[in-house]
Amino acid sequence: MRGLVRETHLTPSQLVYPLFVQAGLSGRTPILSMPGQDRLGLDALAAEALELRALGIPAVLLFGLPAVKDAAGSGAWDRDGIVQQATQALKAADPDLLVVGDVCLCEYTSHGHCGLLRPDGSVDNDASLPLLAATAVSLAEAGCDIIAPSDMMDGRIGAIRAALDGAGFAGTPVLAYAAKFSSAFYGPFREAADSAPAFGDRRGYQLDPANGRMARHEVMADIDQGADMVMVKPALPYLDVIREVRGMTDLPLAAYNVSGEYSMLVAAAERGWIDRDRAVDETLTSIRRAGADIVITYHAKEWAARQRRS
Ligand code: PBG
Repeated sequence: MRGLVRETHLTPSQLVYPLFVQAGLSGRTPILSMPGQDRLGLDALAAEALELRALGIPAVLLFGLPAVKDAAGSGAWDRDGIVQQATQALKAADPDLLVVGDVCLCEYTSHGHCGLLRPDGSVDNDASLPLLAATAVSLAEAGCDIIAPSDMMDGRIGAIRAALDGAGFAGTPVLAYAAKFSSAFYGPFREAADSAPAFGDRRGYQLDPANGRMARHEVMADIDQGADMVMVKPALPYLDVIREVRGMTDLPLAAYNVSGEYSMLVAAAERGWIDRDRAVDETLTSIRRAGADIVITYHAKEWAARQRRS
């Protein structure tokens, strides 16, 4: 009877699993701030693709840890960059696996900011746009199916859309990190991706957690510039924003259940304070209930594996 009257459903086909790929690494190495998650070397990707396929998870979101970083983040648009190579390896292992390429410079810049810096240390928004566009095209050339800009520079969706169209990738959708808040919940990720800013913070380009109207404005701007799908991030502290964005657009809506949300739940479960499986179910269901079509989550594999067993 409960199944008959259940309003919200979750299937593995709605999940995206984030993957960290590290240049020069062989095999896998655990991410200490995110128990149960690993950084992967290129040689570990084929097995990972097959595991995801067996679990029915259709998509990965790729983050790269390059061999070297520089002031411009040139590893991001390098033809032989780590994410470009990872995309090719995953596609060779399973051409049907959807590969979502995260577009940002912070993992590739020596200073850890998401755009180019001026001599005074401030982020040069407009000078960063061509680099982000070049990164998007390079990822599409490598085989990424979806381009997901997370840098939060103003005007990037238009610049990326135009560059993709110009390079023959008119059919490649852009998933805009549209409402991305400046959040403490990215803490574990910055260790995982080695992308913490060397100085300052990201409040100049990410949203203030207090500002719901501004989030609407950012979403409208990205849609106007040609976003094909939009995202709210993080998920749990912003379920109201997910609901709000659901009401303003019929585009596919993704929500990112971020690293801090994951690690917080895992840490409490490790201490025996909460039931991990139930807390994961409740978390993912609440994100769907709020209105997200797509849930990006580090819990994807454990959740999908549990559905297989039951
Ligand atoms: C890069 C980026 C971040 C995340 C995704 N892309 C970190 C940040 O903005 O500092 C966070 C993801 C997570 O915490 O799981 N701009």
